[in-house]
Amino acid sequence: MTAMGSARRVTTTSAGFPPGFFDRVDEGDDATFYAPPRLVTHIDDDAIAAVGALYEELGVNGEVLDLMSSWVSHFRVRPHRLVVLGMNASELEANQMAEERIVHDLNADPRIPMPDESVDDAVCCVSVDYLTAPIEVFRNVARVLRPDGRFVVTFSNRLFPTKAIRGWLYASDDDHCSIVAEYFAQSRVFATATVSRRAPTDHRGDPLYAVWATRL
Ligand SMILES: C[S@@+](CC[C@H](N)C(=O)[O-])C[C@H]1O[C@@H](n2cnc3c(N)ncnc32)[C@H](O)[C@@H]1O
Repeated sequence: MTAMGSARRVTTTSAGFPPGFFDRVDEGDDATFYAPPRLVTHIDDDAIAAVGALYEELGVNGEVLDLMSSWVSHFRVRPHRLVVLGMNASELEANQMAEERIVHDLNADPRIPMPDESVDDAVCCVSVDYLTAPIEVFRNVARVLRPDGRFVVTFSNRLFPTKAIRGWLYASDDDHCSIVAEYFAQSRVFATATVSRRAPTDHRGDPLYAVWATRL
């Protein structure tokens, strides 16, 4: 990844974002872009460790959905049951913590193909910037969460620039935190989000930010 619509694309219902905010340089089918398996890590080891530490600190260890997942889910300890959803079947197959794997394009259909109230918590690591209809997806995450379930979103400053939404490309790290907090607020199904920088300010590697909230 770099540091710093398809025909089936869903139009977001979110308000207050400028025109073009959810456009992307590459509006081609996400399935085409994500067809080659990328068995790599997208952030450095310290940032990955910060993700695992956050999950442990929050006690995300029950039945968990890892949204926009790949071959690693960054938990220090395997959760009780992990469902992974992403675009590439080979990557998900290689995820050794996963018990269930779902290949699904959230930009083509923001509805998560899982029953209501079927997981305790959900996580999404370094991927929220690729969602073109994030409010609908966040509402769907709330639907599959059990009462008091948390949705933990983490991100850094690295991305696939052609697939990230324009609004994210032109925003600062602080803006990114505000954008994700706004997704939670506009979904109207989560309590007020907590925003946290998880790596020290003088950290020389990839920064790591977290925004999470509890289902109402
Ligand atoms: C940068 S990778 C991050 C993977 C993993 N979460 C991690 O921490 O390493 C972005 C992930 O988002 C997923 N993704 C991108 N667009 C998606 C979409 N439209 N629907 C579902 N997943 C998507 C891809 O499958 C890919 O694994």
